[in-house]
Amino acid sequence: MTGRPAPPATAVAVDTLFEVDQLLEPPRAFREQAKISDDSVYDEAERDFRGWWARQAEKLLDWVEPWHTVLDDTDAPFYRWFVGGKLNACYNCVDRHVAAGRGERVAFHWRGEKETREVTYADLYRDTQRLANVLKARGIGKGDVVAIHLPLVPEAAVAMLACARIGAPHNVVFAGFSPHALREQLVFSEARAVITADGVWRDGRAVPLKARINEHIADLDGLRTVVVLRHTGTPAEMCEGRDIWWDEAFATAPPDCPCEPLDAEHPLFTLYTSGSTAKPKVVVHSTGGYLTGVGWTTQNVFDLRPDRDVFWCTADVGWVTGHSYVIYGPLLSGATSVMFEGSPDHPHRGVWWETVERYRVTILYTAPTAINAFLGWGEEHPSRHDLSSLRLLGSVGEPLTPKAWGWYHTVIGGSRCPIVDTWWQTETGCIMITTLPGVMASKPGSAGRPLPGIHVDVVDEEGDPVRGEYGYLVIKRPWPAMLRNLHKQGDRYRQTYFGRFEEQTYLGRFEERTYYVGDSALVDEDGYFWIGGRVDDVINVGGRRFAASQVESAIASHPGVAECAAIGQRHETTGHAICGFVVLRQSLAGGPELERQLGDRVAERLGETARPARIVWTASLPKTRSGKIMRRLLRDIAEGRDLGDVSALRDPDVIDELEQAFSEQPA
Ligand code: PRX
Repeated sequence: MTGRPAPPATAVAVDTLFEVDQLLEPPRAFREQAKISDDSVYDEAERDFRGWWARQAEKLLDWVEPWHTVLDDTDAPFYRWFVGGKLNACYNCVDRHVAAGRGERVAFHWRGEKETREVTYADLYRDTQRLANVLKARGIGKGDVVAIHLPLVPEAAVAMLACARIGAPHNVVFAGFSPHALREQLVFSEARAVITADGVWRDGRAVPLKARINEHIADLDGLRTVVVLRHTGTPAEMCEGRDIWWDEAFATAPPDCPCEPLDAEHPLFTLYTSGSTAKPKVVVHSTGGYLTGVGWTTQNVFDLRPDRDVFWCTADVGWVTGHSYVIYGPLLSGATSVMFEGSPDHPHRGVWWETVERYRVTILYTAPTAINAFLGWGEEHPSRHDLSSLRLLGSVGEPLTPKAWGWYHTVIGGSRCPIVDTWWQTETGCIMITTLPGVMASKPGSAGRPLPGIHVDVVDEEGDPVRGEYGYLVIKRPWPAMLRNLHKQGDRYRQTYFGRFEEQTYLGRFEERTYYVGDSALVDEDGYFWIGGRVDDVINVGGRRFAASQVESAIASHPGVAECAAIGQRHETTGHAICGFVVLRQSLAGGPELERQLGDRVAERLGETARPARIVWTASLPKTRSGKIMRRLLRDIAEGRDLGDVSALRDPDVIDELEQAFSEQPA
């Protein structure tokens, strides 16, 4: 931070270096018990990806009617999977487990900010029916969009499943979004109902939710129903005829509501992408294909055993990770999960580890932003807890640097847990690139290889495969869980995702329409994928191109660094000059000596060209509400531009701090 004294010379040297720079085979004990322990699955899927996915869909899900066509590509890129098949997502996630006698199994160990609750599959069965009846009584049915604006409470799962039960696509709007953002989404999706709460807990304080949104939804004519959950006890004015309290509605709702059989292609939900880059898009996901992709990955990437494991995906239901790996994946597998409301540092910095210990969590799935924060706070917090129940760790959302990987592996995983670094997007619906943990060695810093049935490549401007250097990540074949469209923006869907390499398809060089990811990536000699970050974040110094993640991994390899972001600042002669924004581990401070050390690390790994022209010490980085670093904003700060739309930021105060740090710390 600005004005901090230089660190004592020993402060860095005594620290532990966690970076792991090698291929790590899955531990034998893990491999021996793994659900998938030989790699023939890759060849099997490769021989006939349609047939392979069809077999998975059959195994994973209960269908009311079978499909007649596995994949219809006649209107590509508007692909359709399992055409003619009928099923219901809620039936697959709830009813069938109860029918099989597993109603008493805990679906969620919920740790709320103020209370805890065990929610069984039987509870979900009872409550989804009641809520579905509440919605039906208000005239909401198949095809009507229902917005869900709730904190991470079990009722969020009930709300999503109740919608799925009657075929009303849900559109979850993260409870931390502004009333303005909620309104925008309600208008765009033409939502008929909102399910929300009186308030949310934020680090022990009740923050009003319903009262804040009231004036923003008052004039929405199409919005006929607002169901309000009592959560914080915060007073909220109710609009007569439109608003109902959840508990009052439940008291009179009939208990039985059958599941509506729906086409495999029926939209299960729509969801805004996180918006760390361009204008937000509203992604539409299907029922049959989405559940197939999510089911397969939940059970095999996480090696999940529903009768033994306790799974904890720390994401909020406001993001796709919450949809796929808090709700649909675990529930359709009949698993027991932890659901945790609140921040990782409230009421103390050890609360996650206390939670792992309390519920004997076996599989933990989180994001680099959290891992980096814990790394910065130090080992003393996890070390106070018994983490021996953990057997597998996962990461998603941003590149996990080799150092963060090593820390996660050693401090959290006790050096015995494989780590799955999973690459995917809101659009892909489910995990696409990772290491199957019983089969494949990990390379810290690399996400691994495309999963069976997924055909991913890295290509250059012309669409030719590139090896050993960064290029454009593309997906060359459709997959079941892929988005089906952008809500009301079919042209934008076609353009954004399939326009980039259209010519190559017409020339017959690609077998199918090729999906443009928007990330840069490198494939190494072992076929492992290294994700470089968004294409917009590529840095170009004197004609040499660097992925942000390359520079960041090198800076982060220093033991004193907790987290960092690298950007290319426009430069007259070289194109870009690299600027690193660095957050140090607790109790350390930046200075010229440390700056030199960081520069040396980058130069050693990537060459002198990549040596940062400037290091800026900061206490935090600008992040979206889902935890992604907004590098665009850092470029704007560095280049003195107007910051434009910053509504995606979790903590807007960080801007002042960064601007000040940038101007006060000379280059
Ligand atoms: O840039 C990639 C990054 O996150 C983007 C997708 O973000 P979103 O749609 O919000 O979904 C996040 C949760 C799936 C990707 O385009 N990303 C995601 N996972 C990884 C990643 N970058 C590197 N490594 C990952 N494991």
